[in-house]
Amino acid sequence: MQQALINLAYLASVVLLIVGLKRLSSPAIARSGNFIAAMGMGLGILVTMLIPLGSGDNNYILILIGLAVGSSIGLILSKRVQMTAMPELVSLFNGLGGACAVTISLLELFQYQEIFTGEIVGDVNMGKHFTTLLTIFIGGIAFTGSILAYGKLAGKVSDKHPAALSYLNIVFLLVLLALIGYRVISPDASFMIPWIILGISLIYGLTFVQPIGSADMPVVISLLNAFTGIAAALAGIVYENQVMFIGGILVGSSGTILTVLMCQAMNRSLFNVIIGGFGGSSKKGEDDEEKVAVEATLNDVAILCRYADRVIMVPGYGMAVAQAQKTCKELDNLLTGFGVDVKYAVHPVAGRMPGHMNVLLAEADVPYPSLLDMDDANSLIPDTQVCLIIGANDVVNPAALEDSSSPIYGMPILEVFKCGQVIVLKRSMNTGYSGIENPLFFKSNTKMLFGDAKSSLQNLISEIRELG
Ligand code: TAP
Repeated sequence: MQQALINLAYLASVVLLIVGLKRLSSPAIARSGNFIAAMGMGLGILVTMLIPLGSGDNNYILILIGLAVGSSIGLILSKRVQMTAMPELVSLFNGLGGACAVTISLLELFQYQEIFTGEIVGDVNMGKHFTTLLTIFIGGIAFTGSILAYGKLAGKVSDKHPAALSYLNIVFLLVLLALIGYRVISPDASFMIPWIILGISLIYGLTFVQPIGSADMPVVISLLNAFTGIAAALAGIVYENQVMFIGGILVGSSGTILTVLMCQAMNRSLFNVIIGGFGGSSKKGEDDEEKVAVEATLNDVAILCRYADRVIMVPGYGMAVAQAQKTCKELDNLLTGFGVDVKYAVHPVAGRMPGHMNVLLAEADVPYPSLLDMDDANSLIPDTQVCLIIGANDVVNPAALEDSSSPIYGMPILEVFKCGQVIVLKRSMNTGYSGIENPLFFKSNTKMLFGDAKSSLQNLISEIRELG
């Protein structure tokens, strides 16, 4: 009876997690999705706490202290984090998930093996032993890989890509698989083997992430997220805990889908991302040296926008840095008042995390029908008088279509160069995150409006108001 109630509560928890996840797919209902999923997780934790241990001696004080400390840290961090630093936070949390899976597996290992002598003290189930070692391996990679990804995103670790790392990674992978296989066949072989597997996995996490370029970090974080999910699902098998198993599968599969979608949006293979070396090759041809970008005056831009039939704003990472989303909406309201049709074109990998622009624009109360996805935007752009590029760069780089030697060649972009007039709001001629020069800035229908995006938009709003 008690077990049936526990299973029922677990089922409810899993349903809440799935419903929550489903609702995250639309910005309109994502907030409630997050809340529902959190409730599902809370229920899972509560029910797990109520399961009596074999001894009937649950250490509630320790569990409650752990919960209080963990929840307080989570609450403080999520309140303090800047939207632009969200990927770092996700990466850090993800690493902790990997560390949890490793810890659980080690504890399970010590159920049937003495920690230091390696003496086998219980029955060894081969399947369970394999799963435990696999969890140590995948969780270990997710842990150190995510911590390094955090360091790279936070600018604390530089992007160095020694060619030898790719070979070393293959060696590590083969050694790890061989050690796991050997230990499964002979569980009483050297008691050091699980520790060696843990050690190499932790090092492999670092060498796996190190070659990956900074612009690809969101992809690798999503991949590591999938690893953590798989490690958690395996830990669920080890612990025979259904909610942990299904929760891990949900994280693992959604992380995998997101990784694939991001690669597709950049027209890159996952292998290409993992091998690294994307970006930073801002190649300048002789022609480029002569090219000069034309600067716009505020008055030019104000007149263009005020009298246009349609203005499309293209937000990018710079809008997030400038926190200009509310000013975009203010400009939108002003222009709409003058009868201008204002739309926002959102590229799937604009910013630094999936849905980055959608979240910011939703925060500024931009109505969802005003947001255009890439295909809809590209069909509307040729009939649009003005495109305002607000801190976007790589996602509007025509080299992706025109220059077969460019590292981003083949990546689908917002084809703003087909717009009547393109106005680029950014602070300088600096490249975007991928480090690739943008020929858009030198096109005859493009003008630059230099400055912080928020200040430029505020000045533009004042100028349009003066026009009346
Ligand atoms: P980026 O190409 O990174 O360009 C952002 C631009 O914003 C920079 O050129 C910068 O120029 C400008 N900027 C920065 N601060 C600003 C401010 N305060 N005011 C005005 N402009 C400012 O951005 P994007 O076009 O959004 O592209 C995203 C990049 O991330 C792509 O390379 C994409 O492949 C990569 N990526 C994203 C994701 C996801 S899921 N979003 C996943 C994988 C990869 P200045 O310094 O001159 O101002």
